[in-house]
Amino acid sequence: MNIVRKIGEFPRNPTIITGFVPTMGALHEGHLSLIRMSAKENDRTVVSIFVNPTQFGPNEDFSRYPRPFEEDCRLAFECGADLIFAPDAEDIYSTNPTTVSVPYVTDQFEGQRRPGHFQGVATIVTKLFNIVAPTNSYFGEKDLQQCALVKKLVDDLNLPTNIRICETVREPDGLAMSSRNRYLSSKDRELAPMIYQVLARSKDLLLNGEDIESTLDLQAKALSERGFRVDYLALVDRLTMHPTQSIIDNASLIIAAYLSNTRLIDNIRVVG
Ligand code: PAF
Repeated sequence: MNIVRKIGEFPRNPTIITGFVPTMGALHEGHLSLIRMSAKENDRTVVSIFVNPTQFGPNEDFSRYPRPFEEDCRLAFECGADLIFAPDAEDIYSTNPTTVSVPYVTDQFEGQRRPGHFQGVATIVTKLFNIVAPTNSYFGEKDLQQCALVKKLVDDLNLPTNIRICETVREPDGLAMSSRNRYLSSKDRELAPMIYQVLARSKDLLLNGEDIESTLDLQAKALSERGFRVDYLALVDRLTMHPTQSIIDNASLIIAAYLSNTRLIDNIRVVG
């Protein structure tokens, strides 16, 4: 098993077409589909497993984030990974580290609710791109604002990797796969697919010409009545992650809602 733990030992080879799947471990079918896609499109696939402390807020789940490292390695290699990069935080971060920020696309929604989160993501992704030097890098569309951030980061800083955004993988009942789904109680797990049902119904209503604001208000209310605490349900331009008042190209519906203490996010393309 090819597992590299130190930055200095990472085998850089600019002549090999390298695909890269950055993860925080606790791999599920969503990650595995990215690894399979990378293995198909590249000569070598690198998967990073690093629970990045700087993207967790003080009241978030860093210490209890699942870390089934051996099982993750087994799954990643089975799906076509050639190398796993699993560094320690001490090797990754110096004292008083340099940080990377991507403004505008992170102003609202997750960026507003989770101060520091996207600076943590932008910094670690930049570092990993510099260490791995991937030709192609794979991200899941479930984290839509993260996708917008990564594309903007790569464009603005001219980072030499192609960003490949892959469709959200769902459970048979529609729930978007997420490492955090394992926090749901069995009762909440039964309710959770309503998030995707509301997205799909809202999309249909908007495409049928219903008023955007009142549709989203009504659909959010329907979720609240079933016990969800809805943080936002909004129509956005998925490239800028700012709200839009009309059905434009690149329009997506995004949602964040709590079931008990678990925060679920999801999105659906309305156009494009
Ligand atoms: O999506 C994730 O798992 C993380 O945000 C990422 C991209 C691996 C950076 O830590």
